[in-house]
This record gives sequence, structure tokens and C-alpha cells, in this order.
Amino acid sequence: MKPETKAIRIQNERSQEHEHSVPLFLTSSFVFDDSEHMRATFADENEDNIYSRFSNPNVNEFVDKMCALEGTEAGFATASGMSAIVASFLAFLKSGDHLLACSSIFGSTHTVISKYLVRWGITFTYADINKPETWEALIQKNTKMIFVETPTNPGLDLVDLEWLGQLAKKHKVLLNVDNCFATPALQQPAHYGADLITHSATKFIDGQGRVLGGAVLGKKELIKEIYLFCRSTGPSLSPFNAWVLSKSLETLHLRMERHSENALKLASMLQHHPLIASVKYPFLLSHPHYAIAKKQMKSGGGIVTFELKGGLAHGRKFLDSIKMCSLTANLGDTRTTITHPASTTHSKLTEEERQKTGITAGLVRVSVGLEHITDIAADIEQALDKLK
Ligand SMILES: Cc1ncc(COP(=O)(O)O)c(C=O)c1O
Repeated sequence: MKPETKAIRIQNERSQEHEHSVPLFLTSSFVFDDSEHMRATFADENEDNIYSRFSNPNVNEFVDKMCALEGTEAGFATASGMSAIVASFLAFLKSGDHLLACSSIFGSTHTVISKYLVRWGITFTYADINKPETWEALIQKNTKMIFVETPTNPGLDLVDLEWLGQLAKKHKVLLNVDNCFATPALQQPAHYGADLITHSATKFIDGQGRVLGGAVLGKKELIKEIYLFCRSTGPSLSPFNAWVLSKSLETLHLRMERHSENALKLASMLQHHPLIASVKYPFLLSHPHYAIAKKQMKSGGGIVTFELKGGLAHGRKFLDSIKMCSLTANLGDTRTTITHPASTTHSKLTEEERQKTGITAGLVRVSVGLEHITDIAADIEQALDKLK
């Protein structure tokens, strides 16, 4: 079956009610036939459900679909993207280990690495995503993991996954890729040797701005560690959110295609605007990593960033003039959403850290939705007109 079909047809077995849509299993625990069944289940002699912190039919279905789409053997679903990322760190890193991460990453991930991991004796180095030739020298004897986002949030920079997969293999370190922006519909890091793939399912996977969720995917033996960590610490995905997310996956490919189509049209249009200093979009020829994008992504995804000429003042005025698009922190929604990273998602970073990750005062991030492109473009155009 093709991925589009798998996203729709992988489904829990029908019950005796012959339902077409999968029912919601709102249950904290599961019952056993007898003491022997209970013993055997607790002894991992079968894969039956025990307790929804460990597994649940709705969560299992969501994970099965994610594995099929990412091309991985196993997965574990979590309550949010951040809990997926934290689990992927804490299940494998211990005091004395070193993490190499790309410098341009989501704000909360940066906080976890630079504020919390160091408290537990895990050191880190940020590698410049625009200077891949410097990365190998940054790998230390105690480096256990390389963590990257590609494309990055909000810098929209890319790293060559084929090259990075080979580098990680050569140095026997785990490669952990946050595939939130591309989603498995556009890019499958496991294909290039990524050991762990993390997701914020809150974004394009839900696609309609309703629930939080996350997932860690990878080889069976690695996901076993994630499962054991999460089973004890409890960041599991709720059955209701899993039910919503599993339904969302049915339209993921279709949505990503249209997100990408609208985003490319918007980016192409904005490139020539006199009040815009620069526009960044992976599938624009002017993107510094255009060749990498073309090589590893099916299309450019739904995020466009641009730099307003008037800096912070113009950035705020532009946002205040937006009429239809939503000013909100989320992304990956059917509705176009606009943010100003320097004063919101990345406000906890120091000015120096923001500069390093390319988050300038005038940077605007647009998550291009599924409204008609004419309406999205008209709203942005009229807000730009107010800056004249
Ligand atoms: C790239 C990336 N990773 C992880 C996260 C965290 O996901 P969540 O908000 O679901 O915890 C986000 C959230 O914006 C993100 O953009």
C-alpha cells in the first residue's frame, strides 16, 4: 500500500458492533481473563494492554500509522512534542554524556538542553547549521547523540540528512531528528539512517489546531528504552488526543501538498515586495539550502519566513494590521497563523543566542494555511500596505 492509503487504512480491528470509524477507548486500565493471563501480560509474554499510561488501542493505532509513514519499526506516542523530545534525551543520555545539537532549534528544546540537561551533568555543543564542515570536529569521545531539526524552527535552515546519517554512523552516535516541520508526508529521516525521529503532532499532524501530542519513532530496541522510560515517568498521549490525531493522519498528505503549494506561491510573491528585505522558503531558488531541500523533501512545507525592512517597529505594526490570519503561537493549522518569534516563541533566548539562530527583530513567521491563496495573499498585502 502507498503511504496515503496506509494513513487511511491502518485501523484497529472492528468490534462486534461493526463500526466503520474506530471507537474511542476512554479507559485507564484493561481487564484480564484470569490470573495466568494477568501474569503473562505483566511478564511481557504478550502485547495485551495493561494500563493507558503504557498503551491504549487508540494510541497504538496512531503509533502504527506514524511508523508506517516514517518507515520505522516502532514508536511511542507522548502528550506533546516537548515530552517526546525530553524522553528521547533522557532515555539515552546520562551524566557525563555529550549532546551535539544544531544551533537553530525550537525555543523550548533550547531551554531543555541548555538549562535542564546541564543540571544533570549532560554537556552540549551547538553546531552551526550553515557550517556543516565544522560538525565532525565537534564530536567528542563522550558524544552520545546528535539532535537536529530540519527545516529548523523558525530559521527554516536545512541539514543534509544523507551526509548527517553517514557522520552519525561513522562515529557510532545516535542521530535524533525532529521532523515536525516536514512531517513524514514530505521527508523520512529514517531513510537516511536517523535512529530516532521526534514529532510535535500538535502541528501539521493534527493540522487543525485542536490537540497536543508527540511521538518518538525508531528501531525496536531503541523504542523499547523510550517505552520503559515513559511507562514509568508518565508523559503518555491521551486516548482522546490519539483518536483525533489518527483521524488527522488520514488527510496529512493531501494537506501537506496544499500547504506547500500555498506557501510556495506566497513566498514567490513576497520576494519582490519593496518593504521586505528577504524571504526564506526551502523550495525558493534563493534559499541557501535549496539543493538539500530538493534532494530530501517532497515539497517545501507550510512555513515561510520573511524579514521586514523596518525591524521591530514594522514587525509589530504589520501584525497589528493583519485582519484574517490568526496571531497565534501554533503552526501547521488549516488557518494561516503569523508570529513574531523574537518577542514570543524565542523571547527566552538572549539577544546573542537569537542573533546566532538568525532570529532578527523584523523576522515574521507565517504558517501558510489551507484558505484560498488569494485571500491569504490579500490579507498580507493589505497589512504590508499599512507600513508605507
Ligand atoms: C520544531 C518543534 N519541535 C517541537 C515542538 C514542541 O511541540 P509541542 O508544542 O507539541 O510540545 C515545537 C512546537 O512548536 C516545534 O515547533
